Amino acid sequence: MKRVTIQSSRTYDCVIGQGLLEQLGMLMRAAGLQAERALLVSDTRVTPLYAAQAAASLEAAGYRCSMHVFEAGEAHKRLATVEGMYAALATHGLGRGDVIVALGGGVVGDMAGFAAATWMRGIRFVQAPTTLLAQVDSSVGGKTAVDTRAGKNLVGAFWQPSLVVADVDTLDTLPPAAFADGMAEVVKTACIRDAALLAKLEAKTPRGDAPELEAVIARCVDIKRAIVEEDERDAGVRGLLNFGHTVGHALERYSDYTLSHGSAVAVGMVVMARAGESLGVTVPGTAARLTRVLTAYGLPTHTDARPSDWAPLMMADKKRHGEKIDLVLLREMGDAVLHPIDVQEAIAQVLP
Ligand code: NAD
Ligand code: GLY
Repeated sequence: MKRVTIQSSRTYDCVIGQGLLEQLGMLMRAAGLQAERALLVSDTRVTPLYAAQAAASLEAAGYRCSMHVFEAGEAHKRLATVEGMYAALATHGLGRGDVIVALGGGVVGDMAGFAAATWMRGIRFVQAPTTLLAQVDSSVGGKTAVDTRAGKNLVGAFWQPSLVVADVDTLDTLPPAAFADGMAEVVKTACIRDAALLAKLEAKTPRGDAPELEAVIARCVDIKRAIVEEDERDAGVRGLLNFGHTVGHALERYSDYTLSHGSAVAVGMVVMARAGESLGVTVPGTAARLTRVLTAYGLPTHTDARPSDWAPLMMADKKRHGEKIDLVLLREMGDAVLHPIDVQEAIAQVLP
């Protein structure tokens, strides 16, 4: 088991290892979570796989556990779903001293976290991520959100979890496409801060090798820890974690959230590597190398959608300040920078 401690407005541990779901309640007690009630929040795909095990573990540790399940999928990452969570919190009588446990991928974690941030102006929550994407990225750092018609993740709050329990065994049931989505964020993390990790991923996939997966996840969490500790509220360096996301979020929204987050980010990273090369910021050949590694992990690297249709949606990006936007560009693999640029020029850069 590996443990990464994140020191931000709340200090908490992220534990990563095998067989952790059955220790969930005990790990929460060990982290000092003295709540009476716990609301376990999950989606319709994860619930039949892991909810009974998680609930039994919470009950065994003395929590009075209730369950709330919502329809799986990014299309349900909206305020109406969070309202369903508020109704469950009220029905089961959760108060300020109680705890929400998010069991699932980034969609569950982002929304259960938002419900925790806002219920009674904030109650504690625990992340039990079950996708690779959520274990390497979304469960750590306290960004919680829902999508709106105006754009992706535009309504949300910074609200740190009290504990993250990442059981790598749960990744065994991930469909290949969902595993690939997680690899997009792993490759992203390597691109911005760790060229050696990228070389390791190029040599061999970690899928099916639990100790290797544990090591890769812990490395990604540690990189994110360092960034979040420096800039919890996303006013500077944290923007680097959004490499590929300005284009990715526009593509997700353009597809009406039928394109997965990981796939959209994969395309977005290649677009940004090409833009960086044409702006003279990125070492030539970077886009080609990125394309090879993403393709090897089954991820898309281009979109058939016309850029003139989706590029203007980049205007809704949270990294836009008036007429300027901070693009995340690579100088080389493992070294990302924020590159302020005129929004219209940014849009022109992604057009062929
Ligand atoms: P997801 O939560 O929709 O999970 C993908 C699919 O896998 C879902 O159908 C889910 O039910 C299923 N699933 C989950 N665990 C499973 C398992 N162990 N076995 C089988 N199926 C399983 O999506 P995701 O890719 O985990 O997360 C994407 C979301 O995360 C996006 O909304 C994105 O905006 C958000 N995100 C947030 C942050 C952050 O910092 N908060 C960072 C990155 C991404
Ligand atoms: N995934 C981007 C961030 O946490 O800042």
